[in-house]
Amino acid sequence: MSMNASEIRQSFITFFENKNHQFVRSSSVVPIDDPSLLFTNAGMNQFKPILLGEKEANPSRAVNSQKCIRVSGKHNDLEEVGVDAFHHTFFEMLGNWSFGDYYKEDAIRWAWEFFTEVLKLDKERLFASVYQEDDEAMDLWQKVTDISPDRILKFGKKANFWEMGETGPCGPCSEIHYYMGEDLSKIDASGVNNTDEYWELWNLVFIQYNRKKDGSLEDLPSKHVDTGAGLERIVSVMQGKRSNYETDLFMPIIEKIEKITSINASENLVPFQVIADHIRMLSFSIADGALPSNEGRGYVLRRILRRAARFGRILDQHEPFLYQLVDTLGKVMGDVFPEILEKQAHIEKVIQAEEKSFNATLDRGIQHFEKLVSQLSAKEIPGNEAFKLYDTYGFPLDLTELMARELDLNVDTKGFDEAMSQQRERAKSAGKFQSNKAFLEWEVISKGKDSHFIGYEHLEGKSHIRKKTELDGKLILVLDQTPFYAESGGQVGDKGIISGDCFELKVEDVKKEGDAFFHFCIGKIPESALESELSCKVDYTYRQSVRLNHSATHLLHSALKHVLGEHVQQAGSLVHTDYLRFDLTHFEKIQQKELIEIEKYVNDRIRNNNKVETILKAFDEAKKEGATALFGEKYGDEVRVVSMGKSSLELCGGTHVQRTGDIGLFKIVEESSLASGVRRIIALTGGTAFDFVQNMSEKLNQVQGQLNCAEDEINERLEKLFSDKKNLEKKLKNRSESGGGEVDELLAQAEKVNTYDLIIAKTTVGDMDEAKNLGDTLASKLKSGMAVLFFEGEKKPGAVILISQDLVAKGLNAGQMGKTIGGFMGGGGGGKPHLATAGGRDKKLVSEAMTKSKTLFEQTLKEIK
Ligand code: ALA
Repeated sequence: MSMNASEIRQSFITFFENKNHQFVRSSSVVPIDDPSLLFTNAGMNQFKPILLGEKEANPSRAVNSQKCIRVSGKHNDLEEVGVDAFHHTFFEMLGNWSFGDYYKEDAIRWAWEFFTEVLKLDKERLFASVYQEDDEAMDLWQKVTDISPDRILKFGKKANFWEMGETGPCGPCSEIHYYMGEDLSKIDASGVNNTDEYWELWNLVFIQYNRKKDGSLEDLPSKHVDTGAGLERIVSVMQGKRSNYETDLFMPIIEKIEKITSINASENLVPFQVIADHIRMLSFSIADGALPSNEGRGYVLRRILRRAARFGRILDQHEPFLYQLVDTLGKVMGDVFPEILEKQAHIEKVIQAEEKSFNATLDRGIQHFEKLVSQLSAKEIPGNEAFKLYDTYGFPLDLTELMARELDLNVDTKGFDEAMSQQRERAKSAGKFQSNKAFLEWEVISKGKDSHFIGYEHLEGKSHIRKKTELDGKLILVLDQTPFYAESGGQVGDKGIISGDCFELKVEDVKKEGDAFFHFCIGKIPESALESELSCKVDYTYRQSVRLNHSATHLLHSALKHVLGEHVQQAGSLVHTDYLRFDLTHFEKIQQKELIEIEKYVNDRIRNNNKVETILKAFDEAKKEGATALFGEKYGDEVRVVSMGKSSLELCGGTHVQRTGDIGLFKIVEESSLASGVRRIIALTGGTAFDFVQNMSEKLNQVQGQLNCAEDEINERLEKLFSDKKNLEKKLKNRSESGGGEVDELLAQAEKVNTYDLIIAKTTVGDMDEAKNLGDTLASKLKSGMAVLFFEGEKKPGAVILISQDLVAKGLNAGQMGKTIGGFMGGGGGGKPHLATAGGRDKKLVSEAMTKSKTLFEQTLKEIK
């Protein structure tokens, strides 16, 4: 029975635990504390500060299985992914570390022991490689293992000197390679690092240098061991497979794709492999807080998802389907990485929404691509065309390149970059400061450290200018120390006054550049005062409302997690003086009921009036205590931890109230969608929230006045008004629809008397106005004759009398008849010779009036000569 992937992973961990290594959990694939990396790309990432000697090692030996992503930067395998059998965007790196403890000898001995004695890999298939200048490692392989000396190979820098990135820890390395071929007689050392028949399984790096920005190597204070073994490859070897995709880590996903597509993977392997690979990268990065977007890390996710979706097209998938694989992945890996199960619904929704939006342009993009290719005169897709695919159809450059490669074409990537930078140039209107800041020319006023922030404790202080410059008419000052908070962590910069003996500057904004605080001021300082002591005074009211909003932001963050779920991540935040804005990852509209609960949660905590405490702590310790760290924020070793009772614990450099009660009141005023999977909340605090509530209450009062009812009757009253309105509209509609038909019916009823038409009828109209309308329509159609249209009416009965012009000419007068007919109904009447009205008192008299009218007018018409 071969071992399954979980057993193999565990055997590695146990092996090193037995050698006094402490198990350390895999860190997030989204590095939260290293801005030089988009994704965690090696097990050693989380230990970088220890390797560099910036942080003490505790423990000095560690082991783990690290989630890694390699799609960008120095280590990037994207092109091979899915095409070969053993490169992935996402993979697990098994690793053991020594931080200034054991070095090359034990690293080599234990690696060999684990492979040959625990996993019992066939020694006939194994090779070791060492850096060409590393004789020590060469000797050690011979001394501490039983590998055959001709299996120890020397390689140059490319293969055997490992570096984390452009900068950072590095050193010579020694690798173990495995022959994957079937025929042992064909084993040949020249295949190592040369053909896909030989797989690198394990890399032992002997970290001893730090690569600096200028390219030079600096000796590290201690020497370390950093190893990385590819779990997927080892599983493949152990399970006797020749492809990682055939192992139990991938097969369930491949089978699920077969099920969805009803296509057998063997018919078209690459799309299956690409999709199975990409779904792991997407799911793990989303689980760790990343989201597809148009920039940086988010754009890498978008690229990967779009590649996968395009391979889905090859498998005839035109609807979102990738998201259905998340569940399968959870079954394969959820036991070791529970985040995949915990965040499953969130991951599925993000992927599905993104698939849906790309599907909208994918087919047209593919058509455009095909047309473009059919018209090409050279074997290259021009840069502007690749840009058009990007800009109009959302094709990431690497997707266009991949599709081009399939047809043996190149892409002019330089032309693409040019088109892209031209577009950026066009789009660059905002952020003038951003683009100008590199060119600022400073006048140095005094020397020494600058920008020491005293504003947590003080809102006033004395300062000296370190340097000054001007930009767009504003004076920018850097001070030795300052009480002004510089915009960061979403909190806006302070405002206030900087003054001296004979001048006063208005501080409009404060921004941070690296560690320096730039004070943007209006006003001038006389030359003579530049070196004198200045007084700084932060606008208290301004800062106070910012504080309220910042502390409330923390409470809101924990309320959101509490009410909506742990999947909620902060996706952006603005702590303004007038309001707070909070963007969060969440897939549905936040329901009114939930908003009420969130508001209540925050306001309960405000009334608890907990002390807001700020403590400086080691980053790791704070994290261990469960402090929320924000993605994309860079934290130093020592961090400020802001706590508010039991409900909120966050790493934060901002300014806060002293007790939660200071916030006074919290009110959400807006909830909206920001992007797919991201919601935005806007809320008010303190006096602003109170004003808002009072204003709402005043409006409600006015409504109550207009409706003339008690407050708790407003709903009922409005409902009645709406339903009355609806009924009336319905009635009106029925009437106007029946109007035309009614006239025709009336005409059809006409009795011929002499040669004239006589119409005596009862209509359904409700009042005199409607009767006149009906009469007008009838008059236009009544050629020669007369009509009396009776109605019972909603209140009183009445009639309209019409006489055609020819009869008027013969002396008939509707006005007079109106009087008579009115009389029949107990009322009166009158009007013009051709049109008159009659009004009655009693509905019951209508029938009788009709009969009487009939007799009277038959007679009248008969008598006309
Ligand atoms: N850090 C080494 C690697 O990534 C082990 O290969």
